[in-house]
Amino acid sequence: MAAAPNPPRHLSDEEFRRAGYALIDWLIDYRARVAELPVMPRVAPGDIRAGLPAAPPQAGESFDAILADLAPLIEPGLMHWQSPNFFGYFPANASPPAILGELLSAGLGQQGMLWQTSPACTELESLVLDWLVSALDLPARFRTDGQGGGVIQDSASSATLCALLAARERASAWQARDDGNPASLVAYCSADAHSSLDKAMSIAGLGRARLRKIATDGAQRLDVAALAQALDEDVAAGLRPFFVCATVGTTAALAIDPVAAIGTLAARHGAWLHVDAAMAGSAALCPELRFVNDGLEQADSYCFNPHKWLLTNFDCDCFYVADREPLLRALSVMPEYLRNAASDSGAAIDYRDWQIPLGRRFRALKLWFVLRSYGIEGLRQFVRHHLALAAELEALIVADEAFELLAPRTLNLLCFACRDDDALSRALLERVNAEGRLFISHTVIDGRYCLRLCIGQTYTTRSHVLAAWQHIRAARAALSGESS
Ligand SMILES: Cc1ncc(COP(=O)(O)O)c(C=O)c1O
Repeated sequence: MAAAPNPPRHLSDEEFRRAGYALIDWLIDYRARVAELPVMPRVAPGDIRAGLPAAPPQAGESFDAILADLAPLIEPGLMHWQSPNFFGYFPANASPPAILGELLSAGLGQQGMLWQTSPACTELESLVLDWLVSALDLPARFRTDGQGGGVIQDSASSATLCALLAARERASAWQARDDGNPASLVAYCSADAHSSLDKAMSIAGLGRARLRKIATDGAQRLDVAALAQALDEDVAAGLRPFFVCATVGTTAALAIDPVAAIGTLAARHGAWLHVDAAMAGSAALCPELRFVNDGLEQADSYCFNPHKWLLTNFDCDCFYVADREPLLRALSVMPEYLRNAASDSGAAIDYRDWQIPLGRRFRALKLWFVLRSYGIEGLRQFVRHHLALAAELEALIVADEAFELLAPRTLNLLCFACRDDDALSRALLERVNAEGRLFISHTVIDGRYCLRLCIGQTYTTRSHVLAAWQHIRAARAALSGESS
């Protein structure tokens, strides 16, 4: 028999240790200088790839050589989401405990598709999600030790898709997963709901045309009277309302839909109520901000993203259901090769049945590290700090005649514009982002071009916010030919 070829050379324990320390050192140095880097990368499409070899190396390289390439070859193409001057979109926060939890997850290399394939991955996840039910004062029905439960999804988009599939299963008297879509199903959300609803409808084969985008009121919240009318019209036309999504904290303006009234209408029509609180949900850590939970007791499902405003790096979305049966009926498949005594006993959670993919990472570690390292009080301080800064900036914007607010501030997002001048607002955004001292994003509100400035980055302080405001004012003045 021919001798087996030698295994590849792995890093020795000592090399791995040295490389690991070097990488953590690199990250700490990066964090120390990130505030000085232009937040938005100054590259054109293709630039980063053009700087890299077209083919992989045939012989292995040293870790030192790999690390040395990060700053010159990769860093220029980074949007610095971890800069304290990052105010765009919604944040995607990292923090030291979360980074270490992520590293540990990779190092332990768990694949937690079944309880049996990693009991710790499963049980820590359900525990941490139950901790969050208490910490956020969510309805007890979401607790994993009852009929409902929570699971970590990669993203709010996946959570919404899972909610939609569970709702479809329930609405079809448990037929849809085998027989496909009933013809009559129709879903509802506000015109400002996240685009992941459209995606979910098309992935589910229900079709985007069956998603009714309900008009919003003057404060960008779903208009309940318009929803009631749409529901009645669809029922009169022989259609079947099966799913309503309320948004707590819309992407454009952080507007908060009237969840209680929406829930009452959904219940009247036997429709599933999903609440998407991707960004705003973390605010409920603070008792004084629990208005973000209003109406949640009627929700069939709920999600929020610790990867936005809870110091836990992407990806980490917490998805809860009040009753797990529809979700499991929609997503559970049991091939012979996965059969095992724990699953058969019904005593264990198999999280593969709560998500789209089979395999899953040990994401609960990073959330567990964050919750333990900061403590609930520390996390509350984080949210309150941002809110205080947002309130201060709001006052500055209101006091400045050159600017106007385009939407009421609900939490830590400012939606504003150059007064009566959309072209100037657009030019301002381009100039400020190109200069690189800060990064903001935009939306359109009631037909107006709107600058969005969200204060939620891990290391943002008052001085960063005040400097950003000074910079925005100076850029506007320069564009208008004024001296600031
Ligand atoms: C309200 C809302 N829902 C869903 C999402 C999608 O989040 P994810 O990237 O986790 O899918 C976002 C993203 O910003 C959002 O603002």
